[in-house]
Amino acid sequence: MPLTTKFTEAFGIEHPIAQGGMQWVGRAELVAAVANAGALGFITALTQPTPKDLANEIARCRDLTDKPFGVNLTILPTISPPPYDEYRRVIIDSGVKVVETAGSNPAPHLSHFHDNGIKVLHKCTSVRHAVKAQELGVDGISIDGFECAGHPGEDDIPGLVLIPAAAKQIEIPMIASGGFADARGLVAALALGADGINMGSRFMCTVESPVHQKVKEAIVAGDERGTELIFRTLGNTGRVASNSVSREVVRILADGGRFEDVRDLVSGARGARVYETGDLEAGIWWIGTSMGLIDDIPTVGTLLSRIIRDAEHLIEGRLQAMVRSPAGADQ
Ligand SMILES: Cc1cc2nc3c(=O)[nH]c(=O)nc-3n(C[C@H](O)[C@H](O)[C@H](O)COP(=O)(O)O)c2cc1C
Repeated sequence: MPLTTKFTEAFGIEHPIAQGGMQWVGRAELVAAVANAGALGFITALTQPTPKDLANEIARCRDLTDKPFGVNLTILPTISPPPYDEYRRVIIDSGVKVVETAGSNPAPHLSHFHDNGIKVLHKCTSVRHAVKAQELGVDGISIDGFECAGHPGEDDIPGLVLIPAAAKQIEIPMIASGGFADARGLVAALALGADGINMGSRFMCTVESPVHQKVKEAIVAGDERGTELIFRTLGNTGRVASNSVSREVVRILADGGRFEDVRDLVSGARGARVYETGDLEAGIWWIGTSMGLIDDIPTVGTLLSRIIRDAEHLIEGRLQAMVRSPAGADQ
């Protein structure tokens, strides 16, 4: 039996689970596998070096699935921004019907997407930003707690508080993100007021994920303490795997260093070497605290059917048993 929520109904998918945008990782093979398994995957637009490459990647994903999938558009605070308008045009022209925005205010893009019948799921890390996005008219919120891989924001509020605090004010469909990896997390998110979950790290450690096998094995071997928070002093915190490079970055910045002093260490080219070659010390690579919950490398299909089956058992078994009247209580 499917788990039906406001999120599955509004976004037209079978399971209340999304695979958020992942730089380098969010490519056609993974996104199509997520779509084929009934969840909502996002191709990461900026992983493609040019808008034309994004058009090709979307076409490649279409060849691999006839189910709906989306595109993540990460709006970065950068001095020389990528040509966002051109990426946006490609997304619109491709006929994709859902976009995940993240990183900054989605306002400049929203009407363009809406005018073309595209739903926008905005990912953010604070209640105030979620409320603002709701006021702007986005179609769904992905609320990303401090546990997450990537950019957890600067408030350091974990999901246990962030999700119900957001749920008090968010009326549109809202999914919970950061630290989710299994059925227990999904059921907890639903109990906290969310309509589903978003996962990054967990999907990165599947058969269809394009990262090197050694990266997947490191995730399985790692635990919940295996991350570092870089760029804290720059007000642009990022949660990444703990390795010699990330620890060096933390040290340099804590000693008063500036971005220029770590620019080479954190370069995307070095990070890509980790994913491509499996050299875990080649650069910065992104992973969340949910590493402590990831113990295997399943196919996406196996992972999703396990999460849904276990969630149903948890709700109908363990939780239901707790609310059953004790024998003889009503006599
Ligand atoms: C390797 C990797 C790269 C990521 N890159 C992006 C990105 O480019 N844009 C974005 O919005 N989120 C990015 N994220 C964050 C995920 O979309 C998601 O919000 C996050 O992974 C959720 O936390 P979890 O890893 O605990 O599931 C990335 C996450 C990972 C693991």
